[in-house]
Amino acid sequence: MKTANLSSLAVGYPSHVIGQSLILQADCFEWLSRVPENSIHAIITDPPYGVKEYEFDQLQKRANGNGGTWRIPPSFDGHMRSPLPRFTALNQKERESLRHFFVEWARLAVKALRPGGHVFIASNAFISHLTFSALVEGGLEFRGEIIRLVRTLRGGDRPKNAEKEFPQVSSMPRGCYEPWGLFRKPLPKGMTVADCLREFQTGGLRRLPNGNPFCDVIFSERTPGQERKIANHPSLKPQSLLRQLVYVALPLGEGIIVDPFMGSGSTVAAAEAQGLSCIGIERYREYFEMSTRAIPALAALDVSPWAQHPWGRQVRLFDEMLRSPIDPIGEHLAQARSSDAGRNGAAAGRRAPRKTPVGLF
Ligand SMILES: C[S@@+](CC[C@H](N)C(=O)[O-])C[C@H]1O[C@@H](n2cnc3c(N)ncnc32)[C@H](O)[C@@H]1O
Repeated sequence: MKTANLSSLAVGYPSHVIGQSLILQADCFEWLSRVPENSIHAIITDPPYGVKEYEFDQLQKRANGNGGTWRIPPSFDGHMRSPLPRFTALNQKERESLRHFFVEWARLAVKALRPGGHVFIASNAFISHLTFSALVEGGLEFRGEIIRLVRTLRGGDRPKNAEKEFPQVSSMPRGCYEPWGLFRKPLPKGMTVADCLREFQTGGLRRLPNGNPFCDVIFSERTPGQERKIANHPSLKPQSLLRQLVYVALPLGEGIIVDPFMGSGSTVAAAEAQGLSCIGIERYREYFEMSTRAIPALAALDVSPWAQHPWGRQVRLFDEMLRSPIDPIGEHLAQARSSDAGRNGAAAGRRAPRKTPVGLF
C-alpha cells in the first residue's frame, strides 16, 4: 500500500510545511473525519486529559489567574509554580463527557489509521482508567501502558488542615510516573504481524538501534528549561521522551505519524529530529503559531545531556538486564527460596512464617 502525499492530507486547512512534516490549524475531530481511510501509520499524542482544561473559557481563566480547572500546586520549596489542571475535581457529568470525547475520537482514529497502526496517548494516573476504556469502546485494541518515570508535582501532601496532627501521613502517594496508553488498530482477521508489516508497514514496534526491544518503562525528566523557553505551552513534553516514542512508532522507519493535539509541536519536532514525517494538528491559533517557530528550534536541540544524567545509569542497568541471559529477579527469588527451604528444612511441608522485611526503608 502506497503512502499518501503529505500535502494532500492538509484537506483544505491552513497549513505549513516544516522539513518533511506538515502542521495544520484545525479541529482534529473534523480533520480525522476528512482524511482518507487507512492513510496514517501511527498516532503519538498528549490530549487534553480531562477534556475541559483546554476549552476556551478555562484557558481564559488560566490567563487571568482566576480559578477554573487550573490551580497553582502547593509550594514546598519557595519556588513559584505554574498552574496545573486538577483532574480530581471532575464531576460525574464531566467524566461522562470525557468518555464520550474519547470514544468518538477513537472511532475517527480507527478509520484514519492503517490496520496495525499504533497509538501512544499520554494520560494521568487519576483518569487513565476512564480514557483507556473509552478508547477501547471506540474500537482500539489495548496493548498495554508505557510508564514514564518522572517526578510530577502530584500527591505526597499531609492531610489538609491537619498537617501537624498527622505528620506521619500523606493522603496519597507522591506521583512519580505518567501513564501512556498503547493501542493498536486491530489487524484484519487472519492477518499476522508479518503480513501487516508487508502490506501496511505497521503492526509492530521498531527495535532500538542496538537490537533490543523497546521497553515499556522510560526513565524520564521534567521538561527542561531550555525547551520551555522555546515553547511556552502549559503541557510541553520533553524531546528526550518524544524522540524515543517517534522512533519506535514506525516499525520499518517509514510512514506518517500524526499528533492530533499538537500544542506547540513537540512531537513534530521530535519526528523532524529523527528524519521522520509527522502531521501536527492544533485548534488554537496562538499555539499553532507558536509551533511554527518552536518546531525547528526544538528539533535542533541536542538532548544527549540527559543521557549523562545519573538516571542515565539506570537506563544502562535496565538495558543490561534486558540483554542478560539470566533473569536477575528470578535468580534472586530462586536463591531466597532455596535458602528458606534450607532454614525451614525441619518444618518441611509447613508454610514458613511471614518475615518482617528488613532494611527496606
Ligand atoms: C495537552 S496539550 C498538548 C501539548 C503538547 N504535548 C506540547 O508539548 O506542546 C493539548 C493541545 O490540544 C489542543 N486541542 C484541544 N482540543 C483540540 C481539538 N479538538 N483539535 C485540535 N487541537 C485540540 C489544545 O489547544 C492543546 O494545545
